[in-house]
Amino acid sequence: MKLLMAASIDGYTATGPNDDMSWTSEGDKKVFRLLSNVDGPLLAGSRTWRHMPVLPGRALLPITRNPRIVTHIDATAAIGEPIETLASRYPFAWHIGGMQSALDAMSKGFIHEIHLCRSIGVRLDVEDNFHSKYHISRFWKFFNMKPVRTMRFGPTLEVNVHWPIRGG
Ligand SMILES: NC(=O)c1ccc[n+]([C@@H]2O[C@H](COP(=O)([O-])OP(=O)(O)OC[C@H]3O[C@@H](n4cnc5c(N)ncnc54)[C@H](OP(=O)(O)O)[C@@H]3O)[C@@H](O)[C@H]2O)c1
Repeated sequence: MKLLMAASIDGYTATGPNDDMSWTSEGDKKVFRLLSNVDGPLLAGSRTWRHMPVLPGRALLPITRNPRIVTHIDATAAIGEPIETLASRYPFAWHIGGMQSALDAMSKGFIHEIHLCRSIGVRLDVEDNFHSKYHISRFWKFFNMKPVRTMRFGPTLEVNVHWPIRGG
């Protein structure tokens, strides 16, 4: 499956566990809408899933370590399943984060391509520590830091495509 995540230009994917992601650029929102409508379904870590708005026309399923009913903040619910089950059932799904479940999927070899959408001009500077829980430097153990392809979408977005490190 492919991973689709947003990042600030200083490399953060969230300001914390309950970020509403309002900081991403207009270009990022358009590209997310476009890519997430191609292939599917969308898979999200249970924490992200709980806070995601409804995405018209797209199925969004929660990833959890233990299969169980996961409840959304709007009180709707869905069956959450482990990444192993979802990856074998939906090999063309997009994993849309967050960081914790994305790192787990990478370590298990389920992600074959990452699309990192960098919002140009957006700096989060959430903390001084470069090794923040939500910093993309945590990906470089699994993916080449240097993108295999870079696409610019107007003045506000650059999409970097990365491939896994062989044997990583
Ligand atoms: N930049 C982006 O594109 C992007 C994308 C998504 C989310 N976000 C932001 O990221 C934040 C949430 O991300 P997060 O990293 O804290 O959480 P997350 O990855 O969304 O969800 C964490 C949950 O995933 C489940 N999980 C599945 N396998 C796991 C494993 N092996 N180890 C640990 N957990 C596993 C666990 O749920 P159970 O406890 O149910 O097992 C865990 O609580 C929010 O602020 C959100 O807005 C950013």
